[in-house]
Amino acid sequence: MKVHIIGGGNLGTSIAIGISKFSKNNQVTVTRRNTASIAYLEKAGITVSSDNTHDIEDADVIILTIKPYQVDVVLADILPKINNKTIASAVSGLSIEALQGKIGDKNQAMRIMPNIAAQFGESATCISFDENNKAQAQAVIDLFQDLGTAPVIDEKLMDAATVLAASGTAFALRYIRASMQAGIEIGFDWKTALAISAQTVKGAAEMLMEEQVHPEQLIDRVTTPKGCTIAGLNEMEMHGFSSSLIRGIKTSLNQIKG
Ligand SMILES: NC(=O)c1ccc[n+]([C@@H]2O[C@H](COP(=O)([O-])OP(=O)(O)OC[C@H]3O[C@@H](n4cnc5c(N)ncnc54)[C@H](OP(=O)(O)O)[C@@H]3O)[C@@H](O)[C@H]2O)c1
Repeated sequence: MKVHIIGGGNLGTSIAIGISKFSKNNQVTVTRRNTASIAYLEKAGITVSSDNTHDIEDADVIILTIKPYQVDVVLADILPKINNKTIASAVSGLSIEALQGKIGDKNQAMRIMPNIAAQFGESATCISFDENNKAQAQAVIDLFQDLGTAPVIDEKLMDAATVLAASGTAFALRYIRASMQAGIEIGFDWKTALAISAQTVKGAAEMLMEEQVHPEQLIDRVTTPKGCTIAGLNEMEMHGFSSSLIRGIKTSLNQIKG
């Protein structure tokens, strides 16, 4: 499959690198206006161009990883050169209906909401599409399954997916940072504290995904009666650990909805 990514910034380069590493037999082109900072991608076999239409007629899927205010300019560039293409947009807040309206009936719009862990084959990429475009969408689902998980969701939940899966990366990293800071206070140098905190989160996530159980069932295995873990957990909850995360996620969602 030939994948054409427009917008070689944080997300676009993560997806391009992820495809080059984890998705076999796919060719990737990534474009942005100033290509100097992403020229290194060529060493991984990725084509880099400042021309959004570079070989675009050969593309099987076009992925938009640009900011919402850049969409119209980019579409004006590419629409005269494309016909019967799938455009998978990661642009937050842009509905399938709005994008389809901009690109016309000759091309098919769908939405993807990946995160930057695509680069490591670990993105949770939520995907929505119109039932009429199911066949074309399946190729995109297959592609993102190679880069982690790719659940198909109702488009109504796309803003929620943006917060949980894309912003969620920052929330998880902030947990790790706080844990690391505590680790320093109780005696570790920062690198050791970070390595322990990050691996602990990875291990907890892997247990959950492997066993498919509610987190509380695993927490129960770690919390000995009268032990140190339950004492620490209860102290965190008294200071609003879960509620501050829930409030933060809801605030992020309200921010998207405007
Ligand atoms: N970052 C994330 O984790 C994440 C996750 C999910 C969704 N998203 C969504 O993905 C989109 C991109 O986010 P981002 O964080 O990757 O932003 P970003 O780092 O600013 O990347 C946007 C890229 O678009 C390029 N660009 C701007 N105008 C262009 C044009 N006319 N033609 C071609 N390329 C152009 C910019 O490079 P030049 O200025 O050099 O052209 C820039 O590299 C946003 O809509 C965001 O909401 C991001």
